[in-house]
Amino acid sequence: MNRRRLPLSLRRHAVPWEGQRPTWREARPGVIAGALKRAQARPSGNWFVVGASRALRGDGKLARTVAGQEVVVWRGPGGRLVGGPGVCPHLGAPLRDSPVRCGTLVCHWHGLALDGGPYAGWAPLPVHDDGVLVWVRLDEVGGEDPLDAPVVPRRPGRPGALDAVYTAVGVCEPEDVVANRLDPWHGAWFHPYSFVDLTVIDAPGDRTGAAGDGPDALTVDVSFRVAGRLVVPVRAVFTAPEPRTVVMHITEGEGAGSIVETHATPLGADAAGRPRTAVIEAVVAASHRPGFTAARRAAPLLRPLMRAAAGRLWRDDLAYAERRWLLRSTGRFPG
Ligand code: FES
Ligand SMILES: [Fe+2]
Repeated sequence: MNRRRLPLSLRRHAVPWEGQRPTWREARPGVIAGALKRAQARPSGNWFVVGASRALRGDGKLARTVAGQEVVVWRGPGGRLVGGPGVCPHLGAPLRDSPVRCGTLVCHWHGLALDGGPYAGWAPLPVHDDGVLVWVRLDEVGGEDPLDAPVVPRRPGRPGALDAVYTAVGVCEPEDVVANRLDPWHGAWFHPYSFVDLTVIDAPGDRTGAAGDGPDALTVDVSFRVAGRLVVPVRAVFTAPEPRTVVMHITEGEGAGSIVETHATPLGADAAGRPRTAVIEAVVAASHRPGFTAARRAAPLLRPLMRAAAGRLWRDDLAYAERRWLLRSTGRFPG
C-alpha cells in the first residue's frame, strides 16, 4: 500500500455482502487458539486496567471491582496517583461512593479520611497511570511474578493525537474478548457497516511454539467505511503484548501510527455465577500529516477509526465473546 495515495478511496465495485470471499477456511480455530495461548503465556506482572486517566482529573476517582476485589484509585495530595481496596476499613462502606476532597478520600459513612497511605488497616495497592489508562496491580488475583510497571503498548506521540477510551461489560472471561480480537477474519463479514475489503495478509499459522519465539502478529489490509462507496484503506497489525491486551497498530494509510488497544479486565461473577468482563478500549489516533492544525483537519478522516472502537462494533464483538464463553462453559465449543 502506498502511503502517499489519497487517504480516501472510492470502491470501484461495490461487492454485495454475500458476494465477498468467505474467510472461514483461513480463520482456522487452531490459528486463533494458538495466538491466544501464546498471549496467555506472556507476563502481565499482575496489572489490570481500571479505566481512563482522564477520569482522575480534579477530584475524580476510578472505582471498579476487579476479579471480585473492589478497588478505588484517585489523585492524592500533590496529585500523586494512589489507590487501594474499595472497602472502608471501619465498617465496610463502599468507597466507590465516597468523595475526594483535595486529595483525600473521605468515607461518606463516618468520615474516615484516606490520603493514599496505609491507615487504620487500609493498605494501598500499586497503581500506574500511563497517560491514557490507569492500572492496578493485584498480585493475589494475577498469581504471576509481579512487575514494577504494566506492559503498555507503544503509542503515537501525544502532540496532535486524539485519544478516547470506551468501556463495555459482557458475560464472558477475558480470554473470550482476546480471542475475538485475534480473529480479524470476521471483520468485513460481521461488521460490514464499518469494514470492507478485508484481507489477512500475514498470520502466524497454528504453530504452538513458546511465547516470544519470533514475530507473532496478524497483518490485515482493510478499509474503514466512511459513507457509501467512500472508504479509508489501511494496513493494520494485531499483536497481544500481554494476556489481556490486544493492540491494533495502523501501519499504513491515513492515521498510520494510530493504535486501538483492547484491554479485558475480569470483574468477577454476577448473581447467577457467570463471569463478567470489562472491555476497556483506548484509541490513540494520529495523523502523519505534520502539525496540529493538519491533524485537526484530518480528524474527520480519523473519526471512522475512532468510531471503529465504539458503539455497534463492540455490541457485536461482545456478543461474539459472550457466545464463545457460553459454548465453552457448556462444552459445546466447536473443535
Ligand atoms: S464505614 Fe467508613 S468511616 Fe465508617
Ligand atoms: Fe469485531
